[in-house]
Amino acid sequence: METLNPEIAVTDIPPLKLVIVGHVDHGKSTLIGRMLHDTGSLPDGKVEAVKAMSERRGMPMEWAFVLDALQAERDQGITIDTTQIFFKTPRRPYVIIDAPGHKEFLKNMVSGAASADAAILVVDAKEGVREQTRRHGYILHLLGLEKVIVCVNKMDLVDHDEARFHELEREVTDYLSGMGIVPAHVLPVSARHGDGLAQLSDNMPWFKGSSLIDALDATDPKPLPVELPLRFPIQDVYKFDERRILAGRIESGKISVGDTLMISPSNARAKVQTIETWSTPAPLVTASAGQSIGITLDDQIFVERGHVVSHVEDAPVETNVFRARIFWLGRAPLEVGRRYKLKLATMEHAVEVQAIEKVINVEDLTDKPAERIERNEVGEVVFRARAVLALDEFKDNPRLGRFVLIDGYDMAGGGLVSMDGFPDQRKRQAPTSQNIFAVEHRVDTDARWQANNHKSGILWLTGLSGSGKSTLALELEHQLFRRGWQAYVLDGDNIRFGLSADLGFSPEDRAENIRRVGEVAALFARAGVLVITAFISPYREDRDRARAVAPDLFHEVYLKANLAVCETRDPKGLYEKARKGEIAEFTGISAPYEEPTGAELEVETGTQSLAESTEQLLRYVDAHFSLKV
Ligand code: ADX
Repeated sequence: METLNPEIAVTDIPPLKLVIVGHVDHGKSTLIGRMLHDTGSLPDGKVEAVKAMSERRGMPMEWAFVLDALQAERDQGITIDTTQIFFKTPRRPYVIIDAPGHKEFLKNMVSGAASADAAILVVDAKEGVREQTRRHGYILHLLGLEKVIVCVNKMDLVDHDEARFHELEREVTDYLSGMGIVPAHVLPVSARHGDGLAQLSDNMPWFKGSSLIDALDATDPKPLPVELPLRFPIQDVYKFDERRILAGRIESGKISVGDTLMISPSNARAKVQTIETWSTPAPLVTASAGQSIGITLDDQIFVERGHVVSHVEDAPVETNVFRARIFWLGRAPLEVGRRYKLKLATMEHAVEVQAIEKVINVEDLTDKPAERIERNEVGEVVFRARAVLALDEFKDNPRLGRFVLIDGYDMAGGGLVSMDGFPDQRKRQAPTSQNIFAVEHRVDTDARWQANNHKSGILWLTGLSGSGKSTLALELEHQLFRRGWQAYVLDGDNIRFGLSADLGFSPEDRAENIRRVGEVAALFARAGVLVITAFISPYREDRDRARAVAPDLFHEVYLKANLAVCETRDPKGLYEKARKGEIAEFTGISAPYEEPTGAELEVETGTQSLAESTEQLLRYVDAHFSLKV
């Protein structure tokens, strides 16, 4: 980050962070230049330099050149992410965290790199509200920036006309209020002449409000979210001897020694033993939002980067599916079925676009259904992840409710989380018992792989009854066994004679069946076995939950055979019975089968021979579970 006028940056009072937005040529740079001058914030000689620069180009004093003049002092060849410009009023310092024209402006705004306290929206009095006025206004809304001051600029070009000002005031206010933003002030100014910036102007005696500087001075900074529930995303885990220090920045709330903590999404619990910082020599008793700390726990539970620490009673949402309002900046449009990397606090995870619900027209705030979201468009999207994520709704906690999407290596968009219509999945995963403590094995899975000379995992076969799950699973098990591999089949019918003997075929019972099998398969896989499961597992959500138990080990294999083929095969005569109505809730006939959308492997068992399908699976196994490179 670079500071253009560093001498003003040094002060005890933290500066109020400002962002200045508005349509191109509506006067953002001039406003900044003039404001720096009128508040006495320019270094010596700069005004003369700007005057000379203006004269050389045959122009009257051009305040927009102030930025260029400041810029010229910079060391050459440095890439800047954000340019910071400081200025000072008698009340306090300010920093403009994003200069107009900066090419990373939208990215900084959307990614949260620029987290502003307040915004100035500049509108040209003559041209009125334009496309970028609306788009930038919309971004402010999207980012939850509520403190907005509107400057109706270039009032000199409309003869300081009161009626024109009120007309624009109404237009901007109407647009912003459509998004729930009530501007704190709408001010008539003429930046070029300094009218309405440091002082009210004699040219507009009809205006009884405040000057821009007074309006800014009356704005309070965003309070640190100390009052919100504790969110401490883990950045790193450092190991010293037996001790492990969990390091990160507290995004919201407070943490104290002795607090019982919940780690999400693992749902492990432990108590805070110590809180340490780098900045103070003695350990702390309590720490709060904004502080970077390390904590140690009374129990050595498994925690890693990306996990979120909270209190037990006020934990974040856990889900693998959520809705988001996103702003898309990617070169390639966002499309259903595509995968992106999601970064939220310290967590990174692949997510798939399950649905695009609408694209919002920022011009008039109407929306329509769409297949894709193009660059610079805003839309509402449903995302699905393979594992369970810990997050918050943006409205509850902006710090964990905001994320960035990465396409390849590029930041391609930003979004705000909403759980509208989706349940928090935490309840279904949290253990009912209290006072239970997970232990950690001294033989890890990797050591077992070395001993077995192959990796372990779960090949989760899913497909209709008659698609060949059991047949293929047993054939694969047999072939792997002959190679000396540890492989074991968990089969639907077999499990229903024992572990799931109490369950039927209602959606709830199937969910519970798959939950049990998912847990058992993960245990086997961690024990070093290549588990092959053969269950219809017709509901996507159930399969995703099985995946979430051991996401690193889970491979979904879709045995694709259409209903007609399965029904002709009818190996157990069940389709015939189901058609006669003798079996209720039979998958494919009277109960649904939700096809996988993101399976690691698809096998065309409807058209391929058993030998071909086995061959295909063996190739997959070799590629993913063999230890030889
Ligand atoms: S799942 O839906 O919970 O995954 P699972 O794979 O365990 O089902 O069991 C499916 C097997 O149960 C089928 O292969 C079939 O033999 C038998 N079955 C009996 N009734 C039904 C039914 N209503 N729907 C599907 N399979 C059934």
